Amino acid sequence: TRLVVLVSGSGTNLQALLDACADPAYGARVVAVGADREDIEGLARAERAGIPTFVRKVSDFETREGWDASLTTVVERFEPDLVVSAGFMKLLAPEFLDRFLTLNTHPALCPAFPGMHGPRDALEHGVKVTGATLFVVDAGVDTGPIVAQVPVEVADDDDVASLHERIKTAERAMLVDAVGRIARDGITVDGRRVRIGAGAR
Ligand code: GRF
Repeated sequence: TRLVVLVSGSGTNLQALLDACADPAYGARVVAVGADREDIEGLARAERAGIPTFVRKVSDFETREGWDASLTTVVERFEPDLVVSAGFMKLLAPEFLDRFLTLNTHPALCPAFPGMHGPRDALEHGVKVTGATLFVVDAGVDTGPIVAQVPVEVADDDDVASLHERIKTAERAMLVDAVGRIARDGITVDGRRVRIGAGAR
């Protein structure tokens, strides 16, 4: 299973996938890493692993549509079976999503606390359990069909940083587990119902 991973930041989710892919039995490999900005640790991680990278900055294009089309074209070149948006901070165009099955992780239990501030919003709401969600990207923000979720307890003394760090640890394990199972056993998306494994493809 060929993965293209999209990143915008530190790339710890990417690193977890790269580490998992080092074992051939995992069933997937990262064939390219793309970003919407330069000089980020996520790209450095890919380079250290000897994986091709590409950067598409919105500011280099006259229109957002131009950026969307360029991103689709460059991803297409790597013929991915699956695209993983791992901390990628841009919305993907419908044409992109029609073309590639794309998964994203969100640091909250969807449909709770969508958007840029999942850990902060969970903390402010005072929930005792939050977590991470892996979902199929659709046209909304963190609204797509859910592939996997993992709960994370909120500690009384958590701040946003400590909570997000604990979520990210669970998030990485969830991502690696789900992508591996998808690579080996397939995935079916039937409306909002997602199934990994036997019978899925
Ligand atoms: C993750 O928590 C992801 O869910 C959120 O941003 C973080 C990215 O972390 N959107 P990293 O770049 O994989 O370290």
